[in-house]
Amino acid sequence: MRWSPFLGIPICVALLSFSLFKFFSLKSPISRSLPRLFTAEELALYNGTDTGLPILLGILGSVFDVTKGKSHYGVGGGYSHFSGRDASRAFVSGNFTGEGLTDNLHGLSSTEVKSIVEWRDFYIRTYIFVGKLVGRYYDNEGNPTKYLKGVEAKAARGAQLLEKQKKEEAKLASCNSKWSQEEGSEVWCDKGYPRLVQRPLEIALTGKMSKRCACFQEDQLGQAGLEVYDGCDYFANRCRL
Ligand code: HEM
Ligand SMILES: *[C@@H]1O[C@H](CO)[C@@H](O)[C@H](O)[C@H]1NC(C)=O
Ligand SMILES: *[C@@H]1O[C@H](CO)[C@@H](O)[C@H](O)[C@H]1NC(C)=O
Repeated sequence: MRWSPFLGIPICVALLSFSLFKFFSLKSPISRSLPRLFTAEELALYNGTDTGLPILLGILGSVFDVTKGKSHYGVGGGYSHFSGRDASRAFVSGNFTGEGLTDNLHGLSSTEVKSIVEWRDFYIRTYIFVGKLVGRYYDNEGNPTKYLKGVEAKAARGAQLLEKQKKEEAKLASCNSKWSQEEGSEVWCDKGYPRLVQRPLEIALTGKMSKRCACFQEDQLGQAGLEVYDGCDYFANRCRL
């Protein structure tokens, strides 16, 4: 007897659904438990002290397995204070002690908040997302809290602000600069005069970011807020720092 396609198709369907069933029933214990919810106490177990456990890090309530970075995150690593907790604020404050290790972002600027969201993007790209921390950023059902939504909205404002600032700064030529062993640091303008200009407070993340050197033409030198480099002539094109 020839195999009839009317018999073959049901057999194929049966085989296929059986293997699909096996596939999902094997997978489901894992997928059902992902994303897993952590309490702060649970997360603290994964701080790298117990080398039999993975090292986990929380940022904005997202939990990542950072075991492959244990030279940074393990005991004695330079960033071990990030392990077993959510110390989101320290990603911009750099304060890895005491109260500095908090997930509270109160008082940070929109560009600082944006920087923390970028750190979370870094962890998404680089490590494995394993779950959510119940607390400030996720409720006990794993839903984002108002606080997280507020943080994301603030980060978006920070991004807009930086974009606007970039356009603003593109209107003025930046100073050239170089550093050498013999000469030290130098800034100069091919056209115009080097001046330090204060960036808007919201942009000034750190002391380093708070000013830029730009080149101004003679008729612009009277503008408010332009700072001549210390020890540099008013009409010098080049300043040694
Ligand atoms: C707010 C201050 C800072 C924070 C929050 C911070 C955070 C981090 C984090 C989380 C990593 C690990 C990234 C990974 O998982 O691969 C890292 C790596 C690194 N950081 Fe920082 N950092 C800060 C300041 C600095 C400073 C001031 C320096 C140098 C002067 C520095 C140099 C480095 C280097 C070289 C690495 C890479 C190390 C490696 O891959 O072996 N960091 N930083
Ligand atoms: C990690 O957590 C354990 C248990 O909570 C604690 O005993 C240990 O001191 C912590 N280690 C570090 C490096 O913070
Ligand atoms: C870190 O934060 C704590 C608490 O806010 C503060 O007492 C301490 O001076 C800060 N340390 C540094 C290095 O900024």
